[in-house]
Amino acid sequence: MPGEVHRTPAPPASREVRAFAPGRVNLIGEHTDYNDGLALPFAIAEGVFVHARESQSPTPGIRAYASDLGEHDEFSVAQVAHAPGWRAFVRGVAAELHAAGVPLPDVELEIHGEVRRGAGLSSSAALEIALALALLELADAKLDYRTLAALCSRVENLWVGARTGLLDQLASLFGQPREALLIDFSSLAIEPIPLELADGWRMVTLDSGEPHSLAQSGYNERRAECAQACELLGVASLREIEQADGAATPALARLPATLARRVRHVLDENTRVLATVAALHRGDLARVGGLLDESHASLRDNYECSTPAVEATVRRLRKAGAAGARMTGGGFGGSVLALLPPGTQPPSGAHEVRPSPGARLLAV
Ligand code: GLA
Repeated sequence: MPGEVHRTPAPPASREVRAFAPGRVNLIGEHTDYNDGLALPFAIAEGVFVHARESQSPTPGIRAYASDLGEHDEFSVAQVAHAPGWRAFVRGVAAELHAAGVPLPDVELEIHGEVRRGAGLSSSAALEIALALALLELADAKLDYRTLAALCSRVENLWVGARTGLLDQLASLFGQPREALLIDFSSLAIEPIPLELADGWRMVTLDSGEPHSLAQSGYNERRAECAQACELLGVASLREIEQADGAATPALARLPATLARRVRHVLDENTRVLATVAALHRGDLARVGGLLDESHASLRDNYECSTPAVEATVRRLRKAGAAGARMTGGGFGGSVLALLPPGTQPPSGAHEVRPSPGARLLAV
């Protein structure tokens, strides 16, 4: 008919979601997670954003774009090959979700991160968790958070080659403003511990400038040493070793000196976590600072995972008047956390951190 307007029906709008997952700072409890021990991390405000959209392309599969790097990736979920760098995380998360029976749609992903990679503030876990939340939402699937943390940790272990534990993923998923999380890795119980500094106290991180890569550093070696100590002592995990009132635990005498030092660190670090919780409950921040210093000394001397750049960073923070300073995360580079009393000026480049909300979906 003349004048009739022909309209082609609009294609169905493709669904899209946005997810955010934060990095973390570990207040104390380092290298304890894979030893069934205790840690006290909190989520920070910075993290990774993933925008996921059902794909309209005729070619099936997942297409990903890392906007900060200007790099692309493309793969089919049914046949994922290993790849290095950021692609290992994307491919690993998709492959592990697929293996867990999550029906992944064809999807386009855009990734943007605010946590500097290699700064020891868990940009990796933030990336894994944000990807997983976005993909699960598009697949209309759910996984409980502990299962999801384990799945993402498998990505680190099998796709990235870092034999990490669950610390970073649990902190990113369960983070809450004004609270640190007391995590018991033997049961995965999580207890919120109020951590709201007042009266001019602050926490800051300062990057040592030495990027750390857990897959390439001594991290895996330390983990293997702990496993070897367990084998020699006939225990399933270092948590089973009885602590003899702070005195040298008798079991340690049966170990070669290096392994004994590694175990010493882990046992004392668990004790320091509980002492930190008690000091926070009392509002004794000076004592918290002292415990941060003790933790750092043990990581440096017993666990031997510090570096000259990390030591120089600790010195800068102490010189600025920190009540305590310690490397945070796996070590071998990365960032140093410091607790600053009222009236101190953080050194240039330091960045204030405070407990922030955990991973979540955002409005598109
Ligand atoms: C890294 C790992 C964690 C944990 C810490 C050390 O952040 O990813 O699993 O082992 O190092 O406490």
